[in-house]
Amino acid sequence: MNIAIFASGSGSNFEAMKRAADKGLLSGKISLLICDKPGALVESRAEGHGVPVVSLSPKTFSSKADYEAELLRELKKYDISFLVLAGYMRLVGPTLLDAFEGRIVNIHPSLLPSFKGLDAIGQALDFGVKVTGVTVHVVDAGMDTGPILAQESVTIEPGDTRDDVEKKIREVEHRLYPKTVEQMLQHLQGV
Ligand code: GAR
Repeated sequence: MNIAIFASGSGSNFEAMKRAADKGLLSGKISLLICDKPGALVESRAEGHGVPVVSLSPKTFSSKADYEAELLRELKKYDISFLVLAGYMRLVGPTLLDAFEGRIVNIHPSLLPSFKGLDAIGQALDFGVKVTGVTVHVVDAGMDTGPILAQESVTIEPGDTRDDVEKKIREVEHRLYPKTVEQMLQHLQGV
């Protein structure tokens, strides 16, 4: 099964997913990176692994529907049947949701439904929670609202800096996301 990863940023989760695929831990192939922030670090990571990159800024399209229609054409070209959002900081619209119903997953750095949206780690620190975590969920039309597939907690210790918490969150993400995507792929393939 051909998988496309959608990302906007540094791409550490892209890297973790690709590493898992290269180790034979994913029953799918990372066949494409879609990036909505041309020049983001994730693009050079993908190029370094020989993964084709489609880099398109939504700002250059007249509507979200037009942007996603172009993405859909690219996804068809690469025969993609599963989408993995890995730091894709954008809501998925009806064009892609309809084409990939139940086949889009996302990772979010909080225990949803707490701290949806932007800067979930900053929100958790500002609130002063002692436990936060990571959620992997199926994507629906809402923001960070789809059915939850996996969650793991992360403890915030007294004196932890933002960097400390980010590091703990990333460690969990890099382990939990490939494992959860593989469970989903096996489920879809009826294994
Ligand atoms: C990850 O922590 C991911 O959970 C988060 O963006 C980061 C991307 O890091 N996603 C969201 O906040 C989505 N709402 P990466 O570019 O190093 O993979």
